[in-house]
Amino acid sequence: MQPLSIDRVSTLIERGPVVLVTTSDGQQDNVMTVSWTMVTGYGGTLAMATGPWNHSYKTLKETRECVVAVPSADLLDAAVTIGTQSGAVCDKFAITKLTRRPSERVRPPGIEECLANIECRVVEFLDRHNIIILEAVAAHAVEGWEAADMLHAVGDGTFLTGGKRLDRRDAMRAKLPPGL
Ligand SMILES: Cc1cc2nc3c(=O)[nH]c(=O)nc-3n(C[C@H](O)[C@H](O)[C@H](O)COP(=O)(O)O)c2cc1C
Repeated sequence: MQPLSIDRVSTLIERGPVVLVTTSDGQQDNVMTVSWTMVTGYGGTLAMATGPWNHSYKTLKETRECVVAVPSADLLDAAVTIGTQSGAVCDKFAITKLTRRPSERVRPPGIEECLANIECRVVEFLDRHNIIILEAVAAHAVEGWEAADMLHAVGDGTFLTGGKRLDRRDAMRAKLPPGL
């Protein structure tokens, strides 16, 4: 092995699906692209990394709720547009023409074109590390989402999608929650 610079480390690990996080300040709905996420348990707790440099963060601080929408791979260009412009100065729902989907338990809308919408409340801001802990309070997904191609950001402006599914469910049965 060759030495790898520390600023490349995230590109090895950062492969979870790119998500679109919606917020609403009561005046305007907004959406940002997030690839720095993690699952913190089987019970619907998630973490994402963001901070005061984003308009969405300010709304999250005020309202403590959002929707984590999971786009399929064909929404790549929308995800890049959403992730390169700020809701502080533009309306990203208008620019991308994505369709709002009314949420059940939170004010921000989901996104109709996505594979799934996870309605979340903020549990905690870990501001020292720019981490926000979320808990899912409702979730909806399209039929067949498990087989759909999602987007995986490498972190250098490139994305992975597709790939083979390798099945080790039998070997992992004792570690999986019932139903999976
Ligand atoms: C593929 C992609 C992934 C991104 N992931 C993150 C992320 O994990 N955390 C973050 O703070 N910003 C991330 N961004 C940047 C935000 O989406 C971007 O700053 C956005 O303009 C914020 O919008 P807002 O100011 O309306 O909140 C990402 C952008 C792209 C294109």
